[in-house]
Amino acid sequence: MNAGPARLPQSHVTLEYCRELGVELQVFTNQNANAYIYHESSAALAGKPMRWRTAKADVYGYISELLAKATDQGALDARLTAQDKERLIAFLQSFGAIKGKADGYAYTGTDRRGYSVEPGAAFDDGTVLGPVPTLSDVIASGVGQRFAFEFGYDQAMLMFQPVGGMDAIPYALAKAIGQNRITYGAKALEVKDLPDGAEVTYKDAGGRTRTRRADFVVAAMPPMVMARLKHNLGTDITAALKYAVPTPVGKIGLEYRSRWWETDEHIYGGITPTDTDLATIWYPSYGHQGRRGTLIGYYHFGADAVAYSDLPHAQRLARAVSRGVKIHGDKYRTELDHSFSVAWHRTPHIEAGWVDWPSQTGPEYKLLNRPAGHVYFAGDWLSHVIAWQHGAFTSARKVVTDIHERVMAA
Ligand code: ALA
Repeated sequence: MNAGPARLPQSHVTLEYCRELGVELQVFTNQNANAYIYHESSAALAGKPMRWRTAKADVYGYISELLAKATDQGALDARLTAQDKERLIAFLQSFGAIKGKADGYAYTGTDRRGYSVEPGAAFDDGTVLGPVPTLSDVIASGVGQRFAFEFGYDQAMLMFQPVGGMDAIPYALAKAIGQNRITYGAKALEVKDLPDGAEVTYKDAGGRTRTRRADFVVAAMPPMVMARLKHNLGTDITAALKYAVPTPVGKIGLEYRSRWWETDEHIYGGITPTDTDLATIWYPSYGHQGRRGTLIGYYHFGADAVAYSDLPHAQRLARAVSRGVKIHGDKYRTELDHSFSVAWHRTPHIEAGWVDWPSQTGPEYKLLNRPAGHVYFAGDWLSHVIAWQHGAFTSARKVVTDIHERVMAA
């Protein structure tokens, strides 16, 4: 499991680093027509999971029916020419798989919904999944509100993940930089700006307090952690660092003895969003048809993440499994082998999944994007791509460029 970052969009500079560093990539399946949408609070769905493909068939179908009817009946004549209307209706017939004019452009369900009996040989034309819910139930179910996720600029397929785990990227970076240049296990205690440089005091892995001096310091710690560090950068810096709001984030990995989601439910990767406190269940994007596999049993933020992180692991697990059983049945419990959970807001030196700014145009954000003497700040939190490695990479590049220009101008 990727306990932390787990998906890379094609537009992110992170992919360029993967190329340069030789980090092999594989597709991360962020969307799957065969995964479910699970809205247990929806009476219209009777608490049953619905496949994405089925939800899309019904929502697109009914929306197309409504718009075709309105168009045909002249409700949009102020906006549309006769030819526009014809072409729009042609589009809607394709988009929603609706009937023709003679049948009132009705949506009555098609094989886009899926099959309850798969078609096969000779005269076996299968049984299309039914019954088709009413227009009112489809709207009430709220499934359509899930579709926008995959329209998101940074969430649209295709997406990628490093083979073997996301930490392939930091390992490759460390190797390229040189392990001897990195001091691991060092806990920063103090940052001091000096007239001609800066120094950092830290406790090393052996517990000894040490001080290192340099021309410049780039502080890449999370802002709320940095805010508690002893420093001489001024109270406005501390206040600005505290202005960022940490986001609690939790994940659990569930390792199964079989890949029942593939064998029994034909789900090969992707995500099931839910209206439960799990938020989402993720199916693995690698190892298909293998013997075992690991699901993400929850990936949630905010209040849900806090509620779970207040519990010991065994209770987090029990709660997550009790929800998952409602979607996938008993095998969700009986096939389970191992599990691992992480609460990023309770992880020392990290203390959040990421942060949010109440404003990125106010004085706080501006202040931290400038050097405090010889001390610079960098991180995804100083970007407009927060909670992505792209944000951290671009912030690092900006600071390195700033320092370069300063030194060259001196
Ligand atoms: N980048 C994080 C995600 O994709 C927020 O879930």
